[in-house]
Amino acid sequence: MTTRPHLSEVLSSRRMCRDFLPDPLPAEAADRVLASAFRGPSAGNTHALDLVVLEGVEVARYWDVTLPAGRRDAFRWPGLLRAPLLVVPYVDPGAYVARYAEPDKSGSGLGGSADDWPVPYWFVDGGAAVMALLLAAEAEGLGALFFGQFDHEADVRAALGVPDGRRALGTLALGRPAPGGRAPSRSAEGGRPPVAGHVHRGRW
Ligand SMILES: Cc1cc2nc3c(=O)[nH]c(=O)nc-3n(C[C@H](O)[C@H](O)[C@H](O)COP(=O)(O)O)c2cc1C
Repeated sequence: MTTRPHLSEVLSSRRMCRDFLPDPLPAEAADRVLASAFRGPSAGNTHALDLVVLEGVEVARYWDVTLPAGRRDAFRWPGLLRAPLLVVPYVDPGAYVARYAEPDKSGSGLGGSADDWPVPYWFVDGGAAVMALLLAAEAEGLGALFFGQFDHEADVRAALGVPDGRRALGTLALGRPAPGGRAPSRSAEGGRPPVAGHVHRGRW
């Protein structure tokens, strides 16, 4: 029987990985990680998440779109390009608007337009899905990096044939970590915030 790590161990050991071995992932482990994205909470139970999963030549095409040859030599994380699997999570703001126009939710006043939403729940749910993916990858002993698409969102959407209106959350790279591949980035060198300084009991 496989012993699965406890959630607290997974939470404390998870770090982003930016240097991967090129080995393909066992299909079953990859499938379990992908399925985890659909186990998160979802406002109104809307569940308007899609994952575009890229392997092999599709991964190479992704990098051609977002990191053209001219910029590649200076790229800080060359081992990121070896990740055998990329996952692009997409959310659908229109599905949330439609869900909140239904009778049981229409009193919220959020069923007219995505612009009316004080908190865009599609990104809240999307963040929960990304965390589930990261934790599931960690539990499988895999490395993972979630990273931004910045000004490439439209180009990636077009290259992947994604329907209009969907929003990319970013991109997730998955693979076996290279030795030292989970070393902290410049951002992470600051470490974790002290919990006591950010938990405000009673009032801020
Ligand atoms: C929304 C979001 C966007 C991020 N974008 C990038 C990115 O573009 N490139 C990158 O190397 N890391 C990116 N990261 C990873 C963070 O730098 C990392 O989570 C943070 O430094 C803490 O390190 P840890 O996750 O290893 O604990 C992103 C993380 C999040 C949550």
